[in-house]
Amino acid sequence: MTSINYDTIAEQYAEHRQMLPEALAQWLAVVVREGQLSSQTLVLDLGCGVARFTGPLARVVGGRVIGLDVSWEMLRQAPPDHPTHVAPLVQADACVLPFASGVFDCVFMSHVLHHIGDRQRCLQEVARCLKPGGRFLNRAMRTSILGLVLAYRFFPEAEAVDGRRTPSEGDLDELLHGAGLRPLQWVDVRHKWVNSAEEYLQKLRNKYMSSLHLITEVEFQAGLRRAEGYAREHPEDPSWLYETISMLVAEKPGEGLGHE
Ligand SMILES: C[S@@+](CC[C@H](N)C(=O)[O-])C[C@H]1O[C@@H](n2cnc3c(N)ncnc32)[C@H](O)[C@@H]1O
Repeated sequence: MTSINYDTIAEQYAEHRQMLPEALAQWLAVVVREGQLSSQTLVLDLGCGVARFTGPLARVVGGRVIGLDVSWEMLRQAPPDHPTHVAPLVQADACVLPFASGVFDCVFMSHVLHHIGDRQRCLQEVARCLKPGGRFLNRAMRTSILGLVLAYRFFPEAEAVDGRRTPSEGDLDELLHGAGLRPLQWVDVRHKWVNSAEEYLQKLRNKYMSSLHLITEVEFQAGLRRAEGYAREHPEDPSWLYETISMLVAEKPGEGLGHE
């Protein structure tokens, strides 16, 4: 298997990828700052999945955020209090965006690009839909910090999967330039992910990382036994509790947007 059908794991994703409130608040602040968001900006949450950022982002800036995902089942898992009036959800393909050119102030993507076959086409669509001076934020793992992911200690096969599908920092630079976007900086954010080793194990048992769906069941069960053994011996290891995710900030060259 080389790709995931998110329709089949939508419920699981909604339950096991929820962030702790303090981690979500930490990320929203970073996205607002790096995306230069205000109540006047229009944001696209591209590959929004179960909308874990879409509604909260709209609420925190008091603005509008459109969530787009190819998976209907993921969109259906948006929380019951999702604010559709300021954060409508659209089913479409990230490589063929159903929007006019130059309409968004910011396009935000979280853990999506590595799932997309034609990344160049996707980024060209991002660039087309951004206003000149608009921001593109790509929240994802980056190759130079893959080594920090605790789960890989137990599931080397999952590390290999992610190593293959995560574009290198050089590749990303090229893809961005190829799409007419200018990379500005990387931001690494370390946030609290769980409250205990047992909570982390529970996420592993539920295959919270998509690469755990892409290894064999034998590999998965062996990795789980290694993780459970390590948790028995080192329940207090702080690496259970925190994770680091990166965000690449880029812009579409052009005159500034003149935000206040
Ligand atoms: C790991 S989830 C991330 C969801 C969300 N951004 C988040 O951080 O919770 C990846 C999402 O990308 C979506 N996706 C994959 N390929 C896509 C495409 N070509 N167009 C739109 N969405 C896509 C999947 O359906 C899935 O919801």
